[in-house]
Amino acid sequence: MKQFIDFLLFRNRLKKKMEETHQLEDPWKAERMKGQLHGIIENYVSPCKTILEIGSGDGIVSEKLVEKCDRLFCVEISKRAIAKAKQNLTSLISKITFINKDIYSVSLKTYDTVVMSFVLDYLGQNQFAKKFIWLIMDLCGCSREILIIQPIYEEIDMKKLETIAVILHKNGFEHQKSGIEKESTPHLYVGLFAKQ
Ligand SMILES: C[S@@+](CC[C@H](N)C(=O)[O-])C[C@H]1O[C@@H](n2cnc3c(N)ncnc32)[C@H](O)[C@@H]1O
Repeated sequence: MKQFIDFLLFRNRLKKKMEETHQLEDPWKAERMKGQLHGIIENYVSPCKTILEIGSGDGIVSEKLVEKCDRLFCVEISKRAIAKAKQNLTSLISKITFINKDIYSVSLKTYDTVVMSFVLDYLGQNQFAKKFIWLIMDLCGCSREILIIQPIYEEIDMKKLETIAVILHKNGFEHQKSGIEKESTPHLYVGLFAKQ
């Protein structure tokens, strides 16, 4: 019970922090990486019916994802981020469903592809590792492909990604394609996993 309450409090604090962060213009300086991120989506995501993007932020990645599917579901914890994404994506908005929720409180449907770009650090804190593993397992149950884009700051980041790969393998997902994009600082890990 205590763990559950701690988890709720933690998510609540995260939501507040993200709302504050999104007061800044382009808080993660993602705009400068837009070309690179769009190139990754072009190379890794096949055209499909539905994509779930977790932590869609200002919509920089969403802008490209929406080209790849009939409907894009963007789950984003920050109301402010969604408002900004709606402004940035005006002409594409009819193909996007925005869900202003913490991914941990969303009842997941079925999606062809799940995309997590620059979001793992907010989902997988050590003290709540079990919850994170369950989330990954739920995502395996509701999708055919999972794409992870993650900056690599230190050795530990690669270790975390290896752990996620193990969970994905245990849940029937195989590595399809992966790489380290070295043209940016930090380097980016990109991994596509598909259900066998
Ligand atoms: C670093 S930004 C990445 C934005 C976008 N994916 C990109 O690559 O440009 C991380 C985003 O994830 C959102 N986020 C963090 N934790 C979340 C959660 N539990 N559920 C939904 N969104 C979350 C944050 O509000 C933020 O907009």
